[in-house]
Amino acid sequence: MASSLFLLLPLLLSAAATAVTASIGVNYGAYADNLPPPSQVASFLKSSTTIDRVKLFDSNPDFIRAFAGTGISLAITAPNGEIPSLSKPPGAAAWLASSVLPFLPATNISLILVGNEIMATADRNLIAHLVPAMRSLKSALSSAGYPHVRVSTPHSLGILSSSDAPSSGRFRRGYDRAIFAPMLRFHRDTNTPFVVNPYPYFSYNDRTLSYALFRPNAGVWDPVTRINYTNMFDAQMDAVHAAMDRLGFGDVEILIGETGWPSAGDPGQLAVDPATAAEFNGKLIRKVTSGRGTPRMPGRRFETYLFALFNENLKPGPTAERNWGLFRPDLSPVYDVGVLRAGQTGRPTPAPSGTKWCVPKPGASESALQANIEYVCSTNMVDCKQIQNGGSCFLPNTVQNHAAYAMNAYYQAAGRNDFNCDFRQTATLSTSDPSYGTCKFTS
Ligand SMILES: *[C@@H]1O[C@H](CO)[C@@H](O)[C@H](O)[C@H]1NC(C)=O
Ligand SMILES: *[C@@H]1O[C@H](CO)[C@@H](O)[C@H](O)[C@H]1NC(C)=O
Repeated sequence: MASSLFLLLPLLLSAAATAVTASIGVNYGAYADNLPPPSQVASFLKSSTTIDRVKLFDSNPDFIRAFAGTGISLAITAPNGEIPSLSKPPGAAAWLASSVLPFLPATNISLILVGNEIMATADRNLIAHLVPAMRSLKSALSSAGYPHVRVSTPHSLGILSSSDAPSSGRFRRGYDRAIFAPMLRFHRDTNTPFVVNPYPYFSYNDRTLSYALFRPNAGVWDPVTRINYTNMFDAQMDAVHAAMDRLGFGDVEILIGETGWPSAGDPGQLAVDPATAAEFNGKLIRKVTSGRGTPRMPGRRFETYLFALFNENLKPGPTAERNWGLFRPDLSPVYDVGVLRAGQTGRPTPAPSGTKWCVPKPGASESALQANIEYVCSTNMVDCKQIQNGGSCFLPNTVQNHAAYAMNAYYQAAGRNDFNCDFRQTATLSTSDPSYGTCKFTS
């Protein structure tokens, strides 16, 4: 049973190397009537999570003010309807003066988004004024003494006319040279990012589920670049990059304005549950912060905002629409995606204190337990040294023993909630201390 250590070591090394730079954002949508006040949300994010960026779909002053002094970096959105007026310098200056400048620099507003998915509205008037509005806002910010505040606008992947193979990605005809070329020139000139919302969730079917979820799969071959794509996220991002490259702007930074996976859907909906949402979002966070990039963009990191912070009970449409959140309105996590700081539960009341240990369920498979070890040791919440060679819990060198140590340490660090000892139903709570010899299990 020497296998577990071999699998573990490279993982530990890479987790240590990326720990410091990991930075993740969330979309703070508030289409709900049961959410806590913004000030409570801001202090919860700062004290209990590793989320260091927040994106708003509007510029509500109560929300912007709530983040003052938190150091959390804020992206705010100017309303679609303001775009024609923002395109004129006096309109841009007036909107900045009323909606942004009063909060700078106390609130760290680092990005202003001009409207949301404007190209998808097909509103000719808004589309025609979009790039001019971005330009005049950016120069108004510079004149006001805030040249570092970035300006952009988010796009759905509907901006692409073709993305069968990523290399065939191109912007819709009619918009490519007229809108996207000047927009990308603006981004290059001002060193600001092109913002896209890639959602594998909206493109998967029963045959492509593994491809959408970064699981082992047969891959999708791009005959032009001879790249074998092994996940849908890479393919979507590279299709966007191919479209940019085609216009000569492959160097412009790309920022992910939204992506995610809902945790509940309608009866019979495939792969919409907390475990799958945790899997997609967890793998996505590691992917975008790893610095591995994509096949066409090796080495890039992507500033990313998950959708969404909360389940939003007033959103219309299918059940999944109201279940995109990482957190419930009472600040408890819907599932564990690794953004809680050690010891934080998010719950207003402390977890019960009867001593329990989290151990593998009888009959749990070795591969599942191995996956638990890899997950726990990649979270930075647990020190896995004790189960490495030389550690006091290394022997017996079995997957079962190492998993028991790691899963328990995670349960204790994550806040000792029952849901911290689930591991896709491969774990159970025990009232007897599994410690032996010099190997002490945390409690
Ligand atoms: C503001 O956010 C940026 C990241 O966007 C960060 O680099 C900077 O340190 C933050 N500033 C403050 C004062 O917290
Ligand atoms: C693509 O990669 C997958 C996963 O590594 C592999 O199973 C498949 O054989 C590859 N396909 C091609 C055409 O190289």
